[in-house]
Amino acid sequence: MEKRSNFTSGLAFVLAAAGSAVGLGNIWRFPYLAAKYGGGIFLLVYLVLVVTFGFTLMVAEVALGRKTGLSAIGAFKVLNKKYCFIGWLASLVPIIILPYYSVIGGWVLKYLGAYLGGAHTAMADGNYFTNFISSTSEPLLYFFIFAAITFFIVLLGVKKGVEATSKFLMPLLVLLSIVIAVYSVTRPGAMEGLVYYLKPDFSKFSVNLVLAALGQMFYSMSLAMGIMITYGSYMKKTANLEKSVRQIEWFDTGIAFLAGLIIIPAVFAFSNGEVNAGPGLMFMTLPKIFEHMGLSTLIGVLFFVLVLFAALTSAISLMETIVSILQDRFKWKRPVCCIVVFIGMLILGAPASLGFGSWSSFTVLGLSILDFMDFVSNSVLMPIVALLTCVFVAWIIGTKAVAEEVKLSSDFHGEKLFNVMCKYIAPICIIAILISSVLNALGIITL
Ligand code: PHE
Repeated sequence: MEKRSNFTSGLAFVLAAAGSAVGLGNIWRFPYLAAKYGGGIFLLVYLVLVVTFGFTLMVAEVALGRKTGLSAIGAFKVLNKKYCFIGWLASLVPIIILPYYSVIGGWVLKYLGAYLGGAHTAMADGNYFTNFISSTSEPLLYFFIFAAITFFIVLLGVKKGVEATSKFLMPLLVLLSIVIAVYSVTRPGAMEGLVYYLKPDFSKFSVNLVLAALGQMFYSMSLAMGIMITYGSYMKKTANLEKSVRQIEWFDTGIAFLAGLIIIPAVFAFSNGEVNAGPGLMFMTLPKIFEHMGLSTLIGVLFFVLVLFAALTSAISLMETIVSILQDRFKWKRPVCCIVVFIGMLILGAPASLGFGSWSSFTVLGLSILDFMDFVSNSVLMPIVALLTCVFVAWIIGTKAVAEEVKLSSDFHGEKLFNVMCKYIAPICIIAILISSVLNALGIITL
């Protein structure tokens, strides 16, 4: 059997895992939710959830991966054969997400190309986006290019592909976010939005806010989809597991926070505080705002480079996870696994792309194909996998098994927190998200 690859250092692991965590969710979804749910108070609740809930699940997943040296299916199977179905369910999530995530990655590429080509005025018109996604060949072409880039990087392997790309792109990503955020908050009229974003207004606290923050946290930290198990399996036994998880948390939350600084004050200054939900925010509102802000070509290019890097490192982690599962399961060579996944993602992604154009009459539960894939993976499967993972760790193998793995490399400072969260608090909260997101989708409640 091929020897399992390893990241070369603890830092490499942190950058690769942060590369997975920092994605479209941070840059586009977090600011939109923060603006919708009262700004500062959302930020505060989100932070608390990250360091308690997110910490617990991430430690559990990374430890399961490192302990077994296997990706999701194998990891659950080795620890207890009966529960290998949790690994199967977890693996379904990246299989569903990768194709549609790459369709959106293609849109980002298109926007970057258009800004580079100087089309900023045309892009500020709301119809630009609708016309683009409802056409047939152009979105498919960009989707293909994005998928191909991801494919080539993953083909290069864990060290030369995943690790090298993250080490190069992640620092650039931080730099870009800081530069654009500074520009945005120093625009005239930005103050009002800044105060809204940073000053918690406790009267805006609600249960819906907590549920929205919880769901966002899962997605943003790439939890409950086997990714952290796979990356954990590439982590050296000597690397400090707890500290690495803390660093990933701060990385992920830091970029989300900066994205809020970029978007919320600008929306207040140039768009009357109205935040568009869904893809409209990134692809329709922002180009309009950039047009008013000045330096629109430069800002547009920098911003979409930032989004592209974020989306690419996330797509790489999704593909790597599936490839690693195939390698573990069927013992195929890496290139074979990569080709199989590439073809699969093209087949599943094409309908998601066409769903906004020639196939738009085809909907499920009133959702477009892409939105439906998003709903099944994020709102249904992920909470179920997260719940099962907690139950598995707390009641089947025991939290001690995870603690032992953590302690191989350092003390486990958060052990008490981990135990209580994993056994009681996390499962209850996850059941709440699951029920609420399904009721929301069926139109019974509105989140
Ligand atoms: N965590 C990524 C984000 O915030 C999303 C993602 C989901 C990445 C699934 C990989 C896998 O956008």
